Amino acid sequence: MSRRKKIYEGKAKILFEGPEPGTIIQYFKDDATAFNAQKKAILEGKGVINNQISGFIMTNLNAIGVPTHYIKTMNMREQLVREVEIIPLEVVCRNVAAGSLSTRLGIEEGTPLPRSIIEFYYKKDELNDPMVAEEHITAFNWASTQEIDDIMALTLRINDYLFGMFGAVGIKLVDFKLEFGRLYEGDMVRTVVADEISPDSARLWDVQTNEKMDKDRFRRDLGNVTEAYVEVARRLGIVKQSAAGGESVH
Ligand SMILES: Nc1ncnc2c1ncn2[C@@H]1O[C@H](COP(=O)(O)OP(=O)(O)OP(=O)(O)O)[C@@H](O)[C@H]1O
Ligand SMILES: [Mg+2]
Repeated sequence: MSRRKKIYEGKAKILFEGPEPGTIIQYFKDDATAFNAQKKAILEGKGVINNQISGFIMTNLNAIGVPTHYIKTMNMREQLVREVEIIPLEVVCRNVAAGSLSTRLGIEEGTPLPRSIIEFYYKKDELNDPMVAEEHITAFNWASTQEIDDIMALTLRINDYLFGMFGAVGIKLVDFKLEFGRLYEGDMVRTVVADEISPDSARLWDVQTNEKMDKDRFRRDLGNVTEAYVEVARRLGIVKQSAAGGESVH
C-alpha cells in the first residue's frame, strides 16, 4: 500500500502528493455526481476511461502549444500533473444550445449557436456555481483582466482544436467546461489548463443520430453511461474495445 499523502478528495477525483515538489497525482474515481451531488452513483470503469480520455486530450493540447498541467499518465487511474493554484472559475464554451443555456434563454437543445460562446461560473459548490460576468471576476479579484484575456484566447483555441478532433470521428462537440490554474515558475506565473477534459465535463453527440455520449446519459437516466464513454475513447483511437464491451473484430 502506498503511504502518500492525500491532499483533497473531490466528487470525481482524489489528489495525492506527487513524487516531486510542485507535482500532484490525480486519481480518477468511478463516482458519478450530478446536480451539485444531489444525484450519485458508482459507474464501474468510468475513472479508467476518463483518465485515458483526459490524458489523451491534454497530451494533444500540450503538443499544439496550449499549456496544461498534465505531465504523464502513471497507470489506469492516475496521472501526474503540475500543482497549480486553481482560478475559481468554471469556463464553459458552447457551440450548440443545450443544458442551462437552453433552459435560461429558451433556445431549443440542438440549435447551433451563431458563434461560440464563452461563459464564466464562480466555482463555489455552496452557491451552486453561479454564472458571473467579467465585472464580478475582476472586482472580486478571482482573476485579473490579463488572466481573463489569456483564458478566453486559450479556450477558443481549445474549442477549435477539439471541435475538429471530435468532428473527425463523428462526434459533435456541443459544449465543454474548463478549469485553469496559475503555474508559478520562479517569478513568472503562467495560466494553464487544469483538472480534466472528458465526457464528464463536455457534451458530445453522435453526428449522425445526435445520441448523447457524455454525462447527460447519467443526469437524464439514459443508461449505458460508461459504454458511451468507452465508445468516445474507441473512436478517438485510445482504446480498442468496442462499445458493446467485447473486443472489436476487424
Ligand atoms: N493541477 C491541479 N492542481 C491543483 N488542483 C487541481 C489541479 N487540477 C485540478 N485540481 C482541482 O482538484 C479537484 C479535482 O477533484 P474533483 O474534480 O473530484 O473535484 P470536484 O468534486 O469537482 O470539486 P470542485 O468543486 O472543487 O471542482 C478540483 O477541485 C480541481 O479544481
Ligand atoms: Mg471537478
